[in-house]
Amino acid sequence: MMPTLSKPAAKPIRLRRPLLWAALVGLLVVAQTALVLMTMRYEEARAQERADEAANAVAGELRHRSQQVLQGLQMLAARVMAPEDWRQDSLGLMRSLNELARVELRGVDGQIVQAVDSSFRTPLFQHWPRAELQVEAELACAAALRSATPQFARSQFVPLPDGLGVEVVDVCIALHESGRHAGYVVGSIVLSRLLEEIRTADLSRRFELSFVESDGTRLARSGSVRGAGVFAADRIVDLPGNSLQLRVDAMERKPGLIPNLAVALVLGLSLALAAVVALLVHDVRRRARAEGALAEALAFRKAMEDSLVTGVRARDRSGRIVHVNPAFCTMVGFSADELLATVVPPYWPPEQVATYQLRQAERLNPTADAQASREGYETVFMRKSGERFPVMVYEAPLVDSVGKHTGWMSTVVDVSAQRRMEDLSRQQQDRLQATARLASVGEMASLLSHELNQPLSAIASYATGSINLMERPDTDTPALLHQAMQRIAEQAERAGRVIKSVHNFVRRREQAHELLGADVLIESVMPLVRLQARKSGARIEVDVPSPAPRIKVDRTMLEQVLLNLTRNGLQSMEGDMPVADRVLTIKVSVTQTRWVAFSVIDAGPGVATEVAQQLFTPFFTTKGEGMGLGLSLCRTVIEQHGGVIDFENLPRGTAFRFTLPLAQLRSAAVAV
Ligand SMILES: Nc1ncnc2c1ncn2[C@@H]1O[C@H](COP(=O)(O)OP(=O)(O)OP(=O)(O)O)[C@@H](O)[C@H]1O
Ligand SMILES: [Mg+2]
Repeated sequence: MMPTLSKPAAKPIRLRRPLLWAALVGLLVVAQTALVLMTMRYEEARAQERADEAANAVAGELRHRSQQVLQGLQMLAARVMAPEDWRQDSLGLMRSLNELARVELRGVDGQIVQAVDSSFRTPLFQHWPRAELQVEAELACAAALRSATPQFARSQFVPLPDGLGVEVVDVCIALHESGRHAGYVVGSIVLSRLLEEIRTADLSRRFELSFVESDGTRLARSGSVRGAGVFAADRIVDLPGNSLQLRVDAMERKPGLIPNLAVALVLGLSLALAAVVALLVHDVRRRARAEGALAEALAFRKAMEDSLVTGVRARDRSGRIVHVNPAFCTMVGFSADELLATVVPPYWPPEQVATYQLRQAERLNPTADAQASREGYETVFMRKSGERFPVMVYEAPLVDSVGKHTGWMSTVVDVSAQRRMEDLSRQQQDRLQATARLASVGEMASLLSHELNQPLSAIASYATGSINLMERPDTDTPALLHQAMQRIAEQAERAGRVIKSVHNFVRRREQAHELLGADVLIESVMPLVRLQARKSGARIEVDVPSPAPRIKVDRTMLEQVLLNLTRNGLQSMEGDMPVADRVLTIKVSVTQTRWVAFSVIDAGPGVATEVAQQLFTPFFTTKGEGMGLGLSLCRTVIEQHGGVIDFENLPRGTAFRFTLPLAQLRSAAVAV
């Protein structure tokens, strides 16, 4: 049976499952959010990094470029030449360094001697005179003269005719000739041009480059690309006499939440999908395993049922057959198809159908005693060949998993072989009885020879007496002879009765019980007892209460019992015993008002212990001519009458006592 979940265990599992799902969803949401945030942070960090890298590169380039400008100007300063040549050289320099918009040669007093404007652009001081915009240049020149190194001036705004203007930085180099101050060379660098020059294609696509003042005011910027103001990096570019603040501003804005969310959602959904698929795979595997186990269990059950030798039959509540096993089909000889769904099964003998239907209605009644059906009943089924055979049917209610009573399950056992065995054993029993009857013939012969001994020896002794009388006749002879002949006739008649009684006794036939007094019974055996006693010279004493108790017995057999006991008693006193001591007492008493006890007491040597154990065994004797049947017969006869027999060793002699049920007290009117 499958292990079933107990109720308290089922509840936590029902509760736990939604909790687990909630936890899973919660974790997924947290993981997704964290993923989005981390991605955004990462993107921000990367963007800032790129801006920093670009700023470093641009600052480096700026320095390099300003160095180039300085070198160019120094070369112009180093050569004293004709004005026209100087002009040509200056134009050449400005062609190669585009940011340089104007070169001036000044005198020692700072007055402009010669000024050359770049041929590529509008001259700087056309709209606004140079005279008003040269304070910064003069300061730089003074510093250059002082320090004997080129000096950059502070930047200044130079308005242009189109309403615009440019930010310009002048750079001044002091000229010396033969150790004397000889004037100045001043170059004007347009900052926006400078930025254009160092701008590479890659940078220009992604960054806005500009120079700003420390308060953030923009002085100049490059190109048309505009920074978003989110990822910017500032660098101070130190030049002699001045320092410029460079700003690199990336076009990129803050990473968008929505694209990141979408990516994360897709990612999360894919993860969830993968988890669900994994769960499904796991579930399917478990189901497959369970199905496999179920199929195995079913196959095992079927194999078990098929190997049963007992027929199994299931019926629904209306009595229709819904299932039979192969053993049942083999038993009745019909196939399962022929049996299924039949209400009157083909294995019911046609002559019994009505009876069986009635019985089935009773048995299938739900209120029927289920216990009685379980104990089984015997009935007769018919094989396909028409042969009838006995079966034992055990029935039990079929109860489904929800406790509904759906039908009846029966096991059917073919008991025909058993019945055949029983018939066989009955026949054997009969044969045994016949043999036993034969044996009883032997028993009868033994008993007859035993019991006829006494009447025959009595007859023999009366006959001998008669012969003696006839040989010496006197006056009493006729009377004595008559008496002897009468006794012989009595004993012959008695012998006949003994034969009949023994016959009935051995055959266990109903014996004729007659009601008589204990005294009458004793009196009828007295002649024979006396005859026996005369041989040993023993005395006989009879003690019967008056009125004598009455018993209902087979008289002849009871006489034989008494004769056997008295004979044993007299025989025990033969031998060395003085004749005077030889007394045999026959005593009758009533015990507990329901039993009559007869005692035959002798004065012999008693029964030895080893003899006592076998006393009542047939054919056990200690006597030379004894048959060992006396006491055995006594016990059988007494027990047949419902009494018991036993013996007791007395201080002198032995008492054999037997009891018989008391019939009723004899009326005083009957003579002893
Ligand atoms: N009154 C008695 N005193 C002592 N021994 C007895 C007495 N009665 C019976 N026995 C012992 O019991 C034995 C069996 O007695 P039982 O009457 O069955 O056979 P039996 O007297 O030997 O032979 P039979 O068949 O001729 O009677 C006797 O052989 C004897 O030894
Ligand atoms: Mg005997």
